[in-house]
Order: sequence, then structure tokens, then C-alpha cells
Amino acid sequence: MQEKRNFLSPDDMSVEQLEQVFALADRITADPDAFKDICHGKVLATLFYEPSTRTRLSFEAAMHRLGGSVIGFSDASSSSATKGETVADTARMIGCYADIVAMRHPVEGAPQAAALYCNVPVINAGDGGHQHPTQTLTDLYTIRAKLGRLNNLTVGLCGDLKFGRTVHSLIQALSRYENITFVCISPKELVLPDYIFAQNCEGTNIRFEICEDLQEVIGKLDILYMTRIQRERFDDPDEYERLKDVYVLDNKKMAAAKEDMIVLHPLPRVNEIATEVDDDPRATYFAQAQYGMYARMALIMTLLGTEQNKKTLGGQMHLWQMPSPRQDKHLRCVNPKCLCTVQTTLPHLFVEKGGKKVCYYCDHEGVER
Ligand code: NCD
Repeated sequence: MQEKRNFLSPDDMSVEQLEQVFALADRITADPDAFKDICHGKVLATLFYEPSTRTRLSFEAAMHRLGGSVIGFSDASSSSATKGETVADTARMIGCYADIVAMRHPVEGAPQAAALYCNVPVINAGDGGHQHPTQTLTDLYTIRAKLGRLNNLTVGLCGDLKFGRTVHSLIQALSRYENITFVCISPKELVLPDYIFAQNCEGTNIRFEICEDLQEVIGKLDILYMTRIQRERFDDPDEYERLKDVYVLDNKKMAAAKEDMIVLHPLPRVNEIATEVDDDPRATYFAQAQYGMYARMALIMTLLGTEQNKKTLGGQMHLWQMPSPRQDKHLRCVNPKCLCTVQTTLPHLFVEKGGKKVCYYCDHEGVER
């Protein structure tokens, strides 16, 4: 029997496996007709407990274009979560209806929990302020297409690095490529969480710079990754009001950037990129959304192990292992934003990362009981 594969964080794929997904996405882009029935008879469930435009629609478009069908909800209020159903129970049941699941949830670690209880592949489509690995697939596929490489890059990450889950996943993925420099541009209230730095950059040869002024560093960047200040994750609305327009990329700032720099943004944007920048040939954020659909088509095929995909991989389907999370009677997770502290019937589980025992769901370090 084939082992079930999930895609919960960029770490679930090696650099080689990512390249296989991108190579497959290239083939789909070149000849979409050849793939139009590949997932005939398969059902994707999109369980979106949090708003989304691009991620949900690109997943649904991806499945339709592969000849499969889609069920699901785009609003938690129309699901049984409002009656108090746990993620674990929903996950147990969804495997009876669907062949693959994409889940977005406002609480960190929810798709990771679903993957434990669901008997079909689970894709993390964004969990709270933690991870967003399919946006990272989109980002990497865009960078590879536009710049022709995923190494030798100076990447500016600008805006809300604290709550911006797309940045967390992008750092996790890119830190495995050669010669990467991250330039983290944020106000001090919104700096990258320590655990993201510790688990991905500390002790590696990644160069890591921190600054507050975009203008000061824009000239050295190959990629400028702009992000929205994540209003929905702030505990204090006044703090959001104070920080919301802290960075606005405009043509004046773009004048100091390299001619071949690309501007990425996972979207939606609010004010952080002036619309005048949209006409600049370096503005790549709308193309990025289109690359995302092809990347997700390739991901769905890969996780479902379609015949066509086996051929693409020369008959070799690579399987990657779920980490083996374990209970530890001395440890618990105390992250108030993690599902295991919110839905208390969920066991606290830990995996080893960088010599530390971290929560399987949210990656925060375990605390002595
Ligand atoms: C991002 C997300 O949901 O994290 N959007 C997306 O999926 N493309 C970014 C955001 O909401 O700011």
C-alpha cells in the first residue's frame, strides 16, 4: 500500500522533490490539454475556515483543470465547527468523501492535526500566523521562471514578518538553497519570530540582515517580497492602526532598485504597493498568482500519485515520510495560538528540530510540565 503523503510545511519536500514538482508544472503549462483528465473521478475537498481568494480558487481551478471535482466550504460559519466539532473529528470524516484535502484555518497547527486523523493527503493552505507552504511553491516557481535560479539570491522580505505566514514558509524553503541572503525589513514590533530564525537560519551559512528602512537596502535586492500587515492577527487594534502604512512601495523607491529585481507579493495588497508600480515590468505579483495554479496542479498530481506523474518521474514515485510525532510526559505546548492549546482533547505531540523538541503542530519549543 502506498504511504499517504501530506504537504504541511516546505520541509515535507526535499529540494529535489520540489524540482520534480516544478518540472511537472512546466509540462502542464506547456501542454495543459494533455493533463485535462488526469484526475478524473478524484475529489478535492477545500476546507477554508478563513477568508481566501487566490489560494482557494487556484486550488479549485487546478482540480477542475485536471478533470477532477471539488467539494468544500469557504466560510467556517457554514461548517459544523460552529456546533463545536473538533478538527480531528472533521478530518476523520472527510476522508470518506474526498481523495485529497486542502485546509486553511485561523489556528496554528490545524492542518497538521487534520493530517493525523485523515486517511487521505492533507495540504496546508495556511494555518494562522504559522505556515503557508503552497504559497511558497508559488513563490519558488515564480522566482525559478523569472530569474532562472533559486540560488545566489538576495531576498528582501518587507512588512509583517511576525504574523506573515508566507514569509515563514519562504524562509524555511529558500534557506535550503545555496548562497542566500535574507534582508528582513520590518518595524521592530513585527520582526521575524525567533523560532523561525532558530530552526532555519541559525548555525547555517545563510546571511541574515535586519533593518527598518526599505529605501536603504532596496538597491541590493534581487527579489523584494512585500507583505500585508496582518490586521486579523493583532491583539491590539491601535497597534495595527499605528503600523498599517509603515511601508509603501512606490515608483520613487523603485527608481533605486536593480533593473532586474522582481517585486513579489502573495496578495491581497492593501496600501503597501502603490498601484503606480503595477505598470513597472519588475512588478511580478499578478503573474505570481497564475504560476500558483500550475504549481498546485503539479502538487495535487504528485500527492495523488497519478499515473502520468509516475511517468514524469521515470516510474519512480518518491515518498516522503511524515515526521513521527511523539508524546513526551515532561513537555507541553504553551503557544496560545496553537490548536493543541485551543482544542484540549488533542494530544500534545513533539518532533525533534535542530536538537530541540518542538510542538508537532506549531513548531514552538516544548515547555516543562
Ligand atoms: C496570504 C495569506 O493568506 O497568508 N494570501 C494568500 O494566500 N495569497 C497573504 C495575506 O493574506 O496577506
